[in-house]
Amino acid sequence: MGGIAAAPRGQGDRMDAGALRRTVADLIAPGKGILAADESSGTIKRRFDSIGVESTEENRRAYRTLLLTAPGAGDSICGVILFEETLGQCDDAGVPLPEVAASRGIVPGVKVDKGTVPLAGAPGDLITEGLDGLAGRLEGYKAQGARFAKWREVYNVGDALPGALAVSANAEVLARYARVCQEAGVVPIVEPEVLMDGGHSIERCAEVTEAVLHAVFAALDRHGVLLEGIVLKPNMVLPGSEHEKAAPERVAEATLTVFRRAVPAAVPTINFLSGGQSAVESTENLHAINAASGPKPWALSFSYGRGLQAPALAAWGGRAENAAAAQAAFLERARLNGLARDGRYEGEPATPAAG
Ligand code: 13P
Repeated sequence: MGGIAAAPRGQGDRMDAGALRRTVADLIAPGKGILAADESSGTIKRRFDSIGVESTEENRRAYRTLLLTAPGAGDSICGVILFEETLGQCDDAGVPLPEVAASRGIVPGVKVDKGTVPLAGAPGDLITEGLDGLAGRLEGYKAQGARFAKWREVYNVGDALPGALAVSANAEVLARYARVCQEAGVVPIVEPEVLMDGGHSIERCAEVTEAVLHAVFAALDRHGVLLEGIVLKPNMVLPGSEHEKAAPERVAEATLTVFRRAVPAAVPTINFLSGGQSAVESTENLHAINAASGPKPWALSFSYGRGLQAPALAAWGGRAENAAAAQAAFLERARLNGLARDGRYEGEPATPAAG
């Protein structure tokens, strides 16, 4: 054919663009966003340790069932990212959890990456594993009800981090993953996360995030990924966690400046991660981003883990009798982020668990 693209975009015998677009449409709704409940075994253990609960399979099932069955969760949540184990678990009545989600209008998805390892030849940088056998695994996840997938690459920030090799290698992996998903009819959530850890400035985060996004979209282009059939899940542009905080309006301005430069308008939706912000900060910043003036050709929503769950985890404490209180705490964060996603959040009284 001799075209200039390395791979034909969104074409191929195995790519069903219509199915991808339908799933994306179900993941974009005013007042709604995505719940990230896909903590890996190590991460959920750390979260449970923080509330003194043992991370057993049954405790993980009970906790995630509680989130998915919170009455009215579907009013503010349109998708949920599950961990592989959860795809095969059932609620108390024996209904598989992906089915429980779908019956509430919440599209089930699954984390498919296998976590990070050091990137050889690039001290301080990381790369994510899990491409081997991915196409085969996706068939199994689809049979269990998953309609979208998630893969996260992470970037440490330092004076010399991330290096050029990490920026290009991580982008290449994300693009390979995304193309494999699309060929399987599964919408890829593309998650390049520039970490908040450290004392860097918001300007440094902006510089790194912009370079990372340029590399990611160049790689998605090389691999012929259908941009209309992805969800982008990035970090907001923020100062490092050891740096003085920036006001939400400043975060919004810095974030939108970078995304306008680096994210094509063909991308339907940007669903931010919360990435170590407090629950309230992640809501305030999402609101400021949506309330800001200027061009915003994408939906700007949330795909929060800690931002949605931290107050619920604290309220639950591993006790069945606290399930209703935990559900109420989760639903309140979901509702407030749903408002922020539309630029309609009006603040809230301070509570220790949310702050
Ligand atoms: P946080 O919102 O807690 O950063 O988690 C989102 C996520 O899915 C990270 O991969």
